[in-house]
Amino acid sequence: MLNIDHQIREGIRCLKNGGIVGFPTETVFGLGAKADDVGAVAKVYSVKSRPQDHPLILHLSKMEEANTWVEEIPRAAHKLSKAFWPGPLTLIFKAKSGVANHFSGNLGTIAIRVPSHPIARALIIGLGTGIVAPSANRFGRLSPTSSSDVFEELGGKVDLIIEAENCRIGIESTIVDLTEDRPVILRPGIIDQEKISLVLGEDVVQKVSQTNKAPGSHPVHYAPNTPLTVVYRDQLEKFLHKDTSGLSVAVLGRSIRPQFSGAAVWQVAPTDSLPYAKNLYSLLRRLDNSGCELIAVEEPPFNGDWMAVHDRLKKSSIPKMALMEFIKNVKEKKLKNTKHGSNK
Ligand code: TXA
Ligand code: MG
Repeated sequence: MLNIDHQIREGIRCLKNGGIVGFPTETVFGLGAKADDVGAVAKVYSVKSRPQDHPLILHLSKMEEANTWVEEIPRAAHKLSKAFWPGPLTLIFKAKSGVANHFSGNLGTIAIRVPSHPIARALIIGLGTGIVAPSANRFGRLSPTSSSDVFEELGGKVDLIIEAENCRIGIESTIVDLTEDRPVILRPGIIDQEKISLVLGEDVVQKVSQTNKAPGSHPVHYAPNTPLTVVYRDQLEKFLHKDTSGLSVAVLGRSIRPQFSGAAVWQVAPTDSLPYAKNLYSLLRRLDNSGCELIAVEEPPFNGDWMAVHDRLKKSSIPKMALMEFIKNVKEKKLKNTKHGSNK
């Protein structure tokens, strides 16, 4: 690995000169631009093929820096930032007029996060102002959790990718909207509903609408190229032997490969929610690159700890009708090819 101090210096120089940089945070890798550099931010949108109305998160080194960007800091923000910053939590504020339009989709609000990763912090502090950064993947694809993932996603299109260890958390930050009467969780994460409610001293709801304010919550986001579906443990055998017979299926399983498995690839996932989340995207990337026609994820448990994982799996899955259609088409195509082959 290249010398980290040298990479940080290069990263700061690059950002100061209007470049865009792939860098690690504790959640996933970001694609950073100097927040007040309209041209550099535009480059982030174009490199990601991200629609202009999808707002980006502003990364700061401490809460006080938010004063430059936001109208007011509500009490809830003080409580949450004290409890969870620096860390994997993003807060939505009302923006000061005109300061953030180029990365906030003209919403009049602004998403702010103070990351804990030492490299992210060194970049922000060295730059002397905030870094605007979405996850460093092409639009709608899995977030990268390693430098090589960023290279696979965007290599050649960005000015610099910082080489660092894999991300500790592995899924994106929790997003809490503080611009309405009551705080609302727009995107679940490792800092979960229970922890947030406890700190705020009130029950905080989680938004479930599909067209809400966080475009990352649209269905089929964070998706691999290969269609993905989640299958209940007790239906997996039938799914592999009957429903998808003839298809090559890669399974992200919860236990060692069972006797019955008709899977082409069987990947065992970690048992606990935190290591599962940490490895989720990299394992899905591996299965995506395995050449299989379909990815089946054995459904994880359903309790508090697993909500963020369920959210990401849901966003990676194709809808049931589309899945059935896909399986039918692959089977028909194969049948046709077999008939064609035997007619020769
Ligand atoms: O962990 C993370 O949050 C990572 C790292 C790099 O910090 N970043 C990340 O950024 O996941 P991105 O752009 O992939 O996702 C940001 C999410 C999107 O769903 C976006 O819609 C939402 O934040 N968002 C940003 N600004 C917003 C705003 N003003 N109002 C509502 N949602 C906002
Ligand atoms: Mg993203």
